[in-house]
Amino acid sequence: MSSNDATSFGTPDEAYAFAAPFRAPRGSPIRELFKYVGRPGMISFAGGYPSKDLFDREGLERALEAAYRSDPIACLQYGDTAGALPLRRSLARLMGARGVDLGPDDIVVTTGSQQGFDLLLRTLIAPGDTALIEEPAYPAAISALRLAGANIVTVRTDRDGIDVDALAAQLYAWPPASRPKLLYTVPTFANPTGSTLPRERREALVRLAQAERIVLVEDDPYGELRFAGTPVPPLLALADGCPGARDWVVYFGSLSKIVAPGLRIGWAIAPAPIARRMIVAKQTSDLCTAPLAQEAARHYLDSGSLAPHLRSVVGAYRSRCDAMLKALAHFAPNDVEFSAPEGGMFVWARLTGGRDAGEVLKRAIERNVMFVPGTAFFVHEPDPSSLRLSFAAPDEAEAFEGARRLASALSF
Ligand SMILES: Cc1ncc(COP(=O)(O)O)c(C=O)c1O
Repeated sequence: MSSNDATSFGTPDEAYAFAAPFRAPRGSPIRELFKYVGRPGMISFAGGYPSKDLFDREGLERALEAAYRSDPIACLQYGDTAGALPLRRSLARLMGARGVDLGPDDIVVTTGSQQGFDLLLRTLIAPGDTALIEEPAYPAAISALRLAGANIVTVRTDRDGIDVDALAAQLYAWPPASRPKLLYTVPTFANPTGSTLPRERREALVRLAQAERIVLVEDDPYGELRFAGTPVPPLLALADGCPGARDWVVYFGSLSKIVAPGLRIGWAIAPAPIARRMIVAKQTSDLCTAPLAQEAARHYLDSGSLAPHLRSVVGAYRSRCDAMLKALAHFAPNDVEFSAPEGGMFVWARLTGGRDAGEVLKRAIERNVMFVPGTAFFVHEPDPSSLRLSFAAPDEAEAFEGARRLASALSF
């Protein structure tokens, strides 16, 4: 029995009258791969985890100590459901640096940004409501929509992200009875493709959301991990340039990929009527995000440690990504296409000859290298010829060696 198997006394699943979305829930295809990760010598491009070698352990230890020492009661007591005011002030400053002008009252602290999306779905989506999502997409966003009972409709993307012209055409032809309520996207260094939506498309997307009255959900855990190219403002910042558009953008930020996911600190910025309801939903979810983590995050952000830490993480990801792409360019067969991201943690690859990435994975595991087959990132019709490679975990030498092994698995 694995640690995840609960005790069963033989009562079959059907005996419990589960709610429809939980009758036959799908497990995470990525978690299924974890059993291979611990194998001796395995190089994993599979996980979406930030690098464990790069955590700022001393900086976080100081922040945890300072948090507890300066206000133990704030750390130990229940806190405000919307989040501790000092942290919301620090996050408002951080958002200012991202080009978004707001105050602490515009921010709701969440237990990871994943919780923020779940809370948003509880306030907006009833079973059968239509929701749009870019495809390929972050699997936990797909799962959240499935569990909310949404009618999920996918939006076409190309190498730069959402094809906004195609989306506009899709929306203009939409039957009025089932208007989509929201559109989920990761516009900067997307999971899984690594793509970044260009500025003109962002502006067009924001205008479209406002004109069509669709809540535009911007999930932005990776935006600060830029190692090449020119920064592009978040959709939320660009919404200020389009009258009324700020009322249609919901933004999710996270410290998971830039500080540490173990803190479970995310935040939501939503129009006031939506934010109020998300806070009500959060009251029945966890009452408040762990106050100790919030205080530590606040001390960390206020200590000025984030900027130097980000420089070291971004530098490491740049060299890991370069090493991986260099080895793939040198050793991989010609019928494999790779994206060249300007930041984040992911490279997206396609086998243009129509081969199946699941077959490649079996050969890769034999060679002690892993990745995630692209099928995990599709809603209805998976593309079996795609794969996601995360360059965050292996160091530079391992990234090169892993890509060399992968190239060998691809050569058949
Ligand atoms: C696109 C995207 N959104 C959200 C998350 C989850 O973030 P958090 O740890 O803040 O819940 C992830 C984690 O992999 C992600 O890739």
